[in-house]
Amino acid sequence: MDAPSVPDADFDVLMRELEAIETDHPDLVTLDSPSQQVGPPADTSFTSVTHPSVMLSLDNAFSVDEVRAWHARVVSLVGSDALDESGYMCEMKIDGLAVDLVYVDSVLTRAATRGDGRVGEDVTANVRTISAIPARLSASVPGLLEVRGEVFLPLAEFADLNDALIDDGKRPFANPRNAAAGSLRLKDPRVTQTRSLSFLCHGIGVCEDAEIASLSQAYDHLATWGLPTSDRARLVHSLDEVTAYIADIGERRHGLSHEIDGAVVKVDQISVQRRLGATVRAPRWAIAYKFPPVEVTTKLLDIRVGVGRTGRVTPYAVMEPVKVAGSTVEMATLHNASEVVRKAVLIGDTVILRKAGDVIPEVLGPVLQDRTGSERAFQMPTVCPECGSELRPEKAGDVDLRCPNRRSCPAQLRERLIHLASRQGLDIEGLGEKAVDAIVAQGLVTDEGDVFDLTADKLIQCPLFQRDVKGSTQPALSKIGEKLLGELQAAKTKPFDRYLVALSIRHVGRGVAPLIAAAYHTIDDLASATQEELSQIEGVGPILAESIRAWFEVDWHRAIVDKWKAAGAMAATTQPGAGIAQTLVGLTLVVTGSVPGFSRDEANEAVVARGGKATGSVSKNTDAVIAGDQAGSKLGKALSLGIPVIDASLFPQLLAEGLVAVLPESTDAAEVRHHQG
Ligand code: IVH
Repeated sequence: MDAPSVPDADFDVLMRELEAIETDHPDLVTLDSPSQQVGPPADTSFTSVTHPSVMLSLDNAFSVDEVRAWHARVVSLVGSDALDESGYMCEMKIDGLAVDLVYVDSVLTRAATRGDGRVGEDVTANVRTISAIPARLSASVPGLLEVRGEVFLPLAEFADLNDALIDDGKRPFANPRNAAAGSLRLKDPRVTQTRSLSFLCHGIGVCEDAEIASLSQAYDHLATWGLPTSDRARLVHSLDEVTAYIADIGERRHGLSHEIDGAVVKVDQISVQRRLGATVRAPRWAIAYKFPPVEVTTKLLDIRVGVGRTGRVTPYAVMEPVKVAGSTVEMATLHNASEVVRKAVLIGDTVILRKAGDVIPEVLGPVLQDRTGSERAFQMPTVCPECGSELRPEKAGDVDLRCPNRRSCPAQLRERLIHLASRQGLDIEGLGEKAVDAIVAQGLVTDEGDVFDLTADKLIQCPLFQRDVKGSTQPALSKIGEKLLGELQAAKTKPFDRYLVALSIRHVGRGVAPLIAAAYHTIDDLASATQEELSQIEGVGPILAESIRAWFEVDWHRAIVDKWKAAGAMAATTQPGAGIAQTLVGLTLVVTGSVPGFSRDEANEAVVARGGKATGSVSKNTDAVIAGDQAGSKLGKALSLGIPVIDASLFPQLLAEGLVAVLPESTDAAEVRHHQG
């Protein structure tokens, strides 16, 4: 960040150490590792920004008694009359990270992390990709408005993200909070955009326009200005209601779409808040009640091993089903053989199980006093449980063992096919786990190169795809078989970046694939690129570049490409020029009707590749609507809201030159430039 904290020589020693670690453990290499940058991270580090007003933290209460004690103190400081009149605002404590949004004359001009409370990091570009945060308020709010809230990753998105990371051979995030923080601090906003972060307001800083008397009033204002506020916040007037809220939210916490780690109770009236004041760290007018950590005990019935897509063999615990933090758990990963040794668990042990970050179940260790002597140690197998190949580490010193039968170990092939058909890949619904199991078990494919050669005759060999025909002993192809063939046909024209994900090239996931596809439009271009050329792509470092190059060196990998091409798949190329000029950063666009030369998905992807947001519905936050033939109600809505409408024939010019170049004469171009920052 242009402020070295160590001498250059020390830096070099640390860098070398990092490189040695990364060579031994490639799965620890992240895209933003210093080792992955071609040059110094000049435009990639975050700038420090001073918040217009200080962002405080919260004091914690770890029991309801501690909340009562806090309430008693508040009463002693301001008196019960003031408090009765004010009331308490009770809210969820969302497990994410606090950000400060600065709106100037209704336009989002800056977003920053909390940092030390006074100075945070400027994450504006990444925050602009969060669809819950309007780039412009839906009402005119003159002057400076500082909105505080929590950026978080909903649980479903967290699960998807971790699946994708694991598929790419990367380490998953331990919990949604880490995932949200990591995603907000990525260097490429286009990757942040894929992370589906969300946001809820929990406070207000400087507000020049409106005189605000209470927090509840502030939330009402924020909501009418188009900012997301929680529908679970409650204004209450007694301590009993506070404790009832805490109990209620505790019961509901596992049914929510996102994680919470407690409840926050705040004095509602600003005048009473002012009288109570704050310490250097936290206000006296608020308290965070933290839920107790969730740990249970259960019986470890067995330790089995699974074989992943990259051949990694992972031991996992099979336990007596037990309810923990709202869901029933019966399996938990144990990562690798040395982890099993480190945890010192024996099969048959009573074990302590925790849901780390409330999501990923983790075996902490054995309850030693429950041992009977009948427990037995786990033995890591020496051969693959699926194909019998001898297991070995990829490199000397690796903790992980792998099955070397990459091409046809049924477990690896199954996982690669499931990945190929997943939402990040070619999105083939009919090729789910059951279908893949049936196809692999029947030996219909040698590797994924054969998927597009599946025919009705082949599928019919599997009972899953058979349908009885009256009066005939010969079965016909079932409905799901027909559907699968149709979907395979349709998948042939999926964009090139989807194919890049589908190929299971290590480290190539849905985040980086569009960047690669933007630089190399066809598989042949990519296959002939050198490692050095590949490292020039933004977001692609030497390890990823080497992984791509090495992939193409394997004969059966190239044969997959040839077979897919022969079957007519991978025909779509990336639009030339995509991803090069970031002409649409900060803009929210809606495409409606047909755009010549683009499918709807392609048009939206072209907008996103240029840094814009492509949404499906027109709102006050929409900057422009691109309307082609058969544009429907969205066009009408745009006109009624006074949102500029761009003729679809100008779409290529819009992509190349930005919105100002194609705006109708009457639009205020300065406004758009301002909006884009
Ligand atoms: S109010 C001065 N409200 O918890 C008030 N914070 O442990 C400061 N948080 O930094 C924050 N949900 O990141 C507030 N409903 C809520 C919250 C909340 C989550 C986070 C926030 C804060 C941290 C303090």
